[in-house]
Amino acid sequence: MIQFTDVSKFYEEDVVLKDISFSINKGELAFITGPSGVGKTTLLRMIYAGTIPDEGNITVASWEIRQLKQRTIPYLRRHVGVVFQDFRLLNNKSVFDNVALALRIHNMHPQEIKDDVNEVLKDVKLSHKSHTLPLHLSGGEQQRVVIARAMVSRPTVLLADEPTGNLDSTNSAIIMNLFKEINARGTTVLIATHNESLFHESGRRVIYLKDAAIEREVSG
Ligand SMILES: Nc1ncnc2c1ncn2[C@@H]1O[C@H](COP(=O)(O)OP(=O)(O)OP(=O)(O)O)[C@@H](O)[C@H]1O
Ligand SMILES: [Mg+2]
Repeated sequence: MIQFTDVSKFYEEDVVLKDISFSINKGELAFITGPSGVGKTTLLRMIYAGTIPDEGNITVASWEIRQLKQRTIPYLRRHVGVVFQDFRLLNNKSVFDNVALALRIHNMHPQEIKDDVNEVLKDVKLSHKSHTLPLHLSGGEQQRVVIARAMVSRPTVLLADEPTGNLDSTNSAIIMNLFKEINARGTTVLIATHNESLFHESGRRVIYLKDAAIEREVSG
């Protein structure tokens, strides 16, 4: 589903990632880990064409990231849901509207939007907070809204960057269980995290980055 072949990324003279090759299979849930600044976020951003690799090839489903034209990037992004810290919720819009926004830009019928949004809010157990503003939610609830927003367009791939960053262990476990459910329904999930407890004894594949390269992969 996701294939990196000899991918390198530089910022001016700095080598962030060098000759990275790996693949994530369709239906897999896998982790990327490694020290701060090693390039985890950069690697995930390349998968949704948020930043373009300088060398090598990345394919996501049938898209070649480096061959994409600016106008075809939105098609890729319909298939790649993202849970990233810098994609914040809109604080002046309700939970429902935050999730619906992703569908409204696709010109869907209002009733269809309503049904889809209510369904994902049920999945993340936030139906009762549909009309609430994000600032009136706990951190764990806000993160579940972000996940609902990523899931509502039924992406093929879900990318999550430190999805439990600010959460306690109870909320982290809730979020992790959501990812497992989403994965069990067929979505390929790739999670970048320093939080070893998320993948420790998870039985899932873990890719360790170190010094701009893949240090090792531990299969699940
Ligand atoms: N837009 C940018 N311009 C210049 N350098 C950048 C840019 N984005 C990232 N970098 C650099 O690339 C390196 C990798 O950053 P990245 O955010 O991918 O690391 P990370 O593994 O996600 O770290 P963390 O665990 O702290 O989130 C860092 O040295 C960072 O300073
Ligand atoms: Mg990061």
